[in-house]
Amino acid sequence: MRAELSFAPLSGIETELLAVLAADTQTAKGPDAKPQPTLLVADPSVQAAAAAVLASGEYKAGANETVLLHAPAGLAAKRLLLVGLGKLAKATVHSVRHAAGTAIRFAKPRGIREVVLALPPSEILPAATSGRAAVEGAFIGDFDPDTYRSDRKDQSIQSFTLAAPAGADPKTVEASFAEGVIIGESQNFARSLVNEPGNKLTPTVLGQRAALMAQEVGLDWEVHSTDKLHELKMGAFWSVAQGSAEPPALIVLRYTPEGVANGPILGLVGKGITFDTGGISIKPADNMEKMKYDMAGGAAMIGAMRAIALLKPRVRVIAIVCAAENMPSGTAQKPGDVQTAMPLTPGKPGKTIEIINTDAEGRLVLADGLTYARQLGATHLIDAATLTGAIKVALGMVTAGAFSNDDSTYARFAAALQVSGEKFWRLPLGDEYADLIKSDIADIKNTGGRWGGAMIAAEFLHTFAEDTPWIHLDIAGLAWVEDSRPYIAKGPSGIGMRSILEWVRSF
Ligand code: BES
Ligand code: MN
Ligand code: ZN
Repeated sequence: MRAELSFAPLSGIETELLAVLAADTQTAKGPDAKPQPTLLVADPSVQAAAAAVLASGEYKAGANETVLLHAPAGLAAKRLLLVGLGKLAKATVHSVRHAAGTAIRFAKPRGIREVVLALPPSEILPAATSGRAAVEGAFIGDFDPDTYRSDRKDQSIQSFTLAAPAGADPKTVEASFAEGVIIGESQNFARSLVNEPGNKLTPTVLGQRAALMAQEVGLDWEVHSTDKLHELKMGAFWSVAQGSAEPPALIVLRYTPEGVANGPILGLVGKGITFDTGGISIKPADNMEKMKYDMAGGAAMIGAMRAIALLKPRVRVIAIVCAAENMPSGTAQKPGDVQTAMPLTPGKPGKTIEIINTDAEGRLVLADGLTYARQLGATHLIDAATLTGAIKVALGMVTAGAFSNDDSTYARFAAALQVSGEKFWRLPLGDEYADLIKSDIADIKNTGGRWGGAMIAAEFLHTFAEDTPWIHLDIAGLAWVEDSRPYIAKGPSGIGMRSILEWVRSF
């Protein structure tokens, strides 16, 4: 999708589809309080073209509600699409992100290849943030997961134009637009990785894709495999990889801004299980095919690094993605096995882990990933993982889970969520959870009983993050969109990438 910015008056823009936003300005409640759909556009010709449908009562400007008008009088556009934001009082830039996605997804199946979206006037929503959100939403909406269909009709939008509101500061809108392009493309890059099936995207291929991206945007990169795992004594990571014929990949991406020699080093650690069968503690067949998305945390980190390389924040960042396949085989680890995790100080003994369930593999690869990030000098850590089914039970498919051992580091993340619009909810850590993973034979065990599984998994990781300020994101419930919505296709969501990016930019 090509994206452009226009400062031309709306009525003169020649296009297949001009999309404008509408909101319900009714503030009264009760049975007589009829919706008052109102266009969020100053242009009088657009107002005139939409006047009849707004007066008809057919259209209420509900969230992502659309109505299409052909050959709108007085406009150069062939079609005028109204996209609702819902109640104006509750409308935010996040509603604009969705509305932009809705406009794109309206156009796609109808053979429309060109969309212009008018930003609302700055008095309603500031262009500095709504421009970016709109462009992100357009890219997100343009993504479809049908990569391998022979009858794939390429329905992607060829040209998307953001029309700036009259009177907006051009520099502000330009910056906001440019950010939106980078972030939207990076999120789609992450989604395209998550969408790939396990046979196409092995750990090795994930490493190649990350390396290719790194070269394109100018990041330093290394992709290691089995030998390096042994050299670093990554016994936890290797214990997952050992059951597969596919070698693991230890992906390291580095962003070092020029002239920044001091200050924090941020460590981004992603779970990159390219397929999770459960191993010897094998998963039931139902929905197992979905376990190709068990590398979504790793993809979020790779996508975030792409955006970081292009947006150039003044902070050093190292991303580590631990990629492996979790398979049952003659070489697979067994319940009861004891593994030794990577030591923080080379030469010292690493922590020992009793494997209770080989399906609790994400925490094993992340344990060594977190330790490696600390060894490489990370002062602050953030990890993302499709870690537990328990987080889905706790928060549903609506909100993702977050954990932290440091309130001020988490405060940055909470602020980042206001920008990204992603939904995370902080859940507790605590010694009582840590007590549940004490082992009789080793330092810890990898599962701790039935209840509170998301917190127990987080405490397992906490054992390896120790006192380094750290955030853990459990995205198991949100990495895959189960039912398509007006603004996003079903399939990989790209959750986490935008919030991780904003967290990095806050330093
Ligand atoms: N990858 C799964 C978690 C998962 C479940 C992700 C559903 C996405 C959707 C993880 O490796 C896993 O299997 N976790 C186990 C842990 C258990 C054995 C303690 C789980 O949640 O059942
Ligand atoms: Mn598993
Ligand atoms: Zn897993």
